[in-house]
Amino acid sequence: MKVLVTGGLGYIGSHTCVELLQNNYEVIVIDNLSNSEVSVITRIEKITNKKITFYKGDLLNKFDIQQVFQQNEIDAVLHFAASKSVNESVKNPVKYYKNNISSMVNLLEVMEDFNVKKFIFSSSAAVYGSTTQQPISELVDTQAMNPYGQTKVIGEDFLNDLYISDNEWSIVVLRYFNPIGAHESGLLGEQPNGTPNNLMPLITQVASKKRRLLYVFGNDYNTTDGTGVRDYIHVVDLAKGHVSAVQKLLLTHGLHTYNLGTGEGYSVLEIINTFEKVNNVNIHYEIVDRRAGDPAVCFANPAKAKEELEWSAERTLEDMCRDSWQWEKALENNILPSRK
Ligand code: WQD
Repeated sequence: MKVLVTGGLGYIGSHTCVELLQNNYEVIVIDNLSNSEVSVITRIEKITNKKITFYKGDLLNKFDIQQVFQQNEIDAVLHFAASKSVNESVKNPVKYYKNNISSMVNLLEVMEDFNVKKFIFSSSAAVYGSTTQQPISELVDTQAMNPYGQTKVIGEDFLNDLYISDNEWSIVVLRYFNPIGAHESGLLGEQPNGTPNNLMPLITQVASKKRRLLYVFGNDYNTTDGTGVRDYIHVVDLAKGHVSAVQKLLLTHGLHTYNLGTGEGYSVLEIINTFEKVNNVNIHYEIVDRRAGDPAVCFANPAKAKEELEWSAERTLEDMCRDSWQWEKALENNILPSRK
């Protein structure tokens, strides 16, 4: 079974390639290396002792996509390639609508041309915006609060229209909550370009003294300790969820949407305290004002994925903190080829 993974050298994409290879799928990757690097290939192959076929290409260029389909009999596509910074999307919506929507149109057009109609879409809990219905089930209305989240809402609506137009399609939409952590090998992890937006890479950079201080965005929310609560999920659990989704794709038609979260919510201070305890380090932080657009609480009801994909997250918050720190130390000690 041959699967195409767009953005397969990125954080979630690369961890998913490992799980696909270890489940005996043949993996082809197309990636424009805008937020990843080619050395990830060797590390995926080292972990799995298997080869991947790599195409450097951009989904905004239809020719790049066509040549992959001309040269390979693709059975299914997992689509990760997209821009994913909430902050950046607010400052530069044009980039986000172009990169996240136009590329998806190109990809689906080529898939139709080659009669490949099995598709997994990387969506996000950002589609739920600031819903107060917690834990969040897939039935909650989508109401994005930023351009990034809106590109995911549009992507989902696009897929819904596509399925209605042709029910030969088999589509799974996966709404990720907060992916953190890294592969236990210490060979794969999050390598954000520039200053990270997300909590965990900032924590690991403070722990490694790359960064002096962590700013905690608000402690006046209606939560146990006043800081924001999120559903953090280990990236390897997330990757395994994609393998379960591929298996679902291959057995059925239809369009199915699943939350991929643990169902547990942890506050920022709980994350900091757990990280300090597990790794025996100190995280210097300062409470500052809330960040605009942040909901107080966001965590999943993952029951539907458990029932229909026979998948649920297994790794603990301690695992996530331990693996994140191991990865930061690997980056720090230059064990890995550094970012170009
Ligand atoms: C987590 C918590 C912050 C940074 C976003 C996207 C979502 C997904 C994950 C792509 C919040 C607090 C953070 C900091 C802090 N991305 N925080 N200081 O905003 O929940 O989700 O990233 O799919 O779609 O919306 O993640 O890691 O930025 O924030 O206090 O320097 O940490 O307020 O409570 P978020 P995050």
